[in-house]
Amino acid sequence: MALNGYWRFMAICTLTFPGTFSFQQDQPKVLLLSFDGFRWDYIYKVPTPNFHAVMKNGVHVKHVTNVFVTKTYPNHYTMVTGLYAETHGVVANEMYDPILNQTFSMNHLDIYNSRFWEEACPIWVTNQMEGHRSGDAMWPGTDVKIHGVFPTHYMLYNESISFEERVAKLIGWFTSEEPINLGLLYWEQPDEMGHIFGPENPLMGAVISETDGKLGYLVSELKKAKLWDMLNVIITSDHGMAQSSRERVIELDQYVDRDLYTMIDHSPVVAILPKEGQLDQVYKALAIAHPNMTVYKKEKIPNRLHYKHNHKIQPILAVADKGWEILQNKSDFSVLGNHGYDNTLPEMHPILVAHGPAFRKNVSKEAMSSTDLYPLLCYLLGISPLPNNGSFDNVTDMLAVAVKIRPTSYEQESYAYFIGVFLGSILVIVFLLVFIKHLTHSQLPTVQVQHTEIAQPLLQG
Ligand SMILES: *[C@@H]1O[C@H](CO)[C@@H](O)[C@H](O)[C@H]1NC(C)=O
Ligand SMILES: *[C@@H]1O[C@H](CO)[C@@H](O)[C@H](O)[C@H]1NC(C)=O
Ligand SMILES: *[C@@H]1O[C@H](CO)[C@@H](O)[C@H](O)[C@H]1NC(C)=O
Ligand SMILES: *[C@@H]1O[C@H](CO)[C@@H](O)[C@H](O)[C@H]1NC(C)=O
Ligand SMILES: *[C@@H]1O[C@H](CO)[C@@H](O)[C@H](O)[C@H]1NC(C)=O
Ligand SMILES: *[C@@H]1O[C@H](CO)[C@@H](O)[C@H](O)[C@H]1NC(C)=O
Ligand SMILES: *[C@@H]1O[C@H](CO)[C@@H](O)[C@H](O)[C@H]1NC(C)=O
Repeated sequence: MALNGYWRFMAICTLTFPGTFSFQQDQPKVLLLSFDGFRWDYIYKVPTPNFHAVMKNGVHVKHVTNVFVTKTYPNHYTMVTGLYAETHGVVANEMYDPILNQTFSMNHLDIYNSRFWEEACPIWVTNQMEGHRSGDAMWPGTDVKIHGVFPTHYMLYNESISFEERVAKLIGWFTSEEPINLGLLYWEQPDEMGHIFGPENPLMGAVISETDGKLGYLVSELKKAKLWDMLNVIITSDHGMAQSSRERVIELDQYVDRDLYTMIDHSPVVAILPKEGQLDQVYKALAIAHPNMTVYKKEKIPNRLHYKHNHKIQPILAVADKGWEILQNKSDFSVLGNHGYDNTLPEMHPILVAHGPAFRKNVSKEAMSSTDLYPLLCYLLGISPLPNNGSFDNVTDMLAVAVKIRPTSYEQESYAYFIGVFLGSILVIVFLLVFIKHLTHSQLPTVQVQHTEIAQPLLQG
């Protein structure tokens, strides 16, 4: 039994150890790309040959559950921290911090206050602390100083900078004399057009095709730079999109005086800060207002949303049903597509495909959580993940090399396991030798000296 276990271990070892060592030597490289608002099923709406080519040679995850609220900033920060929004602290696109008395607004590009980002430590900071270099092309938060650190290379956010220019920058960083091992790339489409048209609009077909073309451009540039076959590339998104309509608007002004509260974050999940002493009045007025709006006092937000334990989550949260908008006045209606809704709704879920030497080929995986991406990225980079809400076990089936060990202090554990089993095996052998010695001693007293000589070098070695 014991010897059996020993040989089984040696077999696992030869499978996993070369992987561990070659990973250290080759400096594994990772590129994470987000096409904002690329819903999971867009690849089935119109021909998307570039996505399908990557899927055929990589892994496609059909259902990725992202985090609530299903908005851009919270979800991009989840992907690089593995944390729910309540823990990483970027709880919305529009925030108010009552302790600092300061605001954060994506719409006003008022996002450069480090304090809003520093409840967590994103992967590029950890990567650099472990001696590596990161390069970031406009991924949200990468042009903000976080815990005193900027990415090794980054671009100031500017929507007018083309996809092609962002790709050129990244390839330059990957191929420079001091190359990056982690690249992050962000592109605004198809989110922007998804808001304008709504996802059910046939005009979205052209937008999806165009985004597929961007992926094709990236792959061809990476091939030209001889990076495509050595890079582990994950293409994903922050959220999906649901169709809105002028017919599905909940007007807060009909139910409560707007002077009684401040609206911090906007439709379809509205963060409400009541004026001093007005909490109960505002809550009572809204709670019963409309069947397609669920209103929570902060402490009653369901646990499954992981959206409660943070001082930047406001005292009242109003959540619209899919396809509904919560506005103060119908005249504020402006978009035909929106996201932010409950993260269990399939329409809110993003695409995810992965390609590279670390990944299996032509494999389709049913489900994962977006929090699992972070431990996966840390494993690919060979860095230690910080405490997070993801599960590496849930994504090891995406990997080409069987992984038997959890990523937390991956190398230490594998060494400890190796040494433990090795020493254990020696003990078993010694025990067997002593046992044989004991047997032979009682049966053949004359061979005693020979066995002692055999046992000693083993014990010393
Ligand atoms: C919060 O800041 C605003 C200006 O941004 C100021 O008018 C207000 O008095 C401040 N409130 C507190 C409690 O300091
Ligand atoms: C953004 O990029 C465009 C195009 O390169 C440029 O014209 C513009 O000045 C840039 N804006 C800022 C704020 O740097
Ligand atoms: C809106 O509310 C009505 C009445 O409760 C319900 O029947 C309907 O399913 C809701 N719509 C959505 C999209 O949940
Ligand atoms: C709501 O919108 C209407 C026009 O659509 C406007 O007349 C009215 O003043 C608005 N109400 C408020 C409170 O802004
Ligand atoms: C990919 O897998 C599918 C089934 O999962 C199979 O039908 C197809 O032939 C495979 N394609 C390649 C190129 O291996
Ligand atoms: C991920 O792992 C957790 C526990 O490790 C499990 O409860 C959950 O169902 C898994 N999720 C998926 C999508 O596999
Ligand atoms: C998420 O992870 C953080 C860090 O480990 C932890 O503090 C928090 O309690 C976790 N949240 C949940 C819901 O498990």
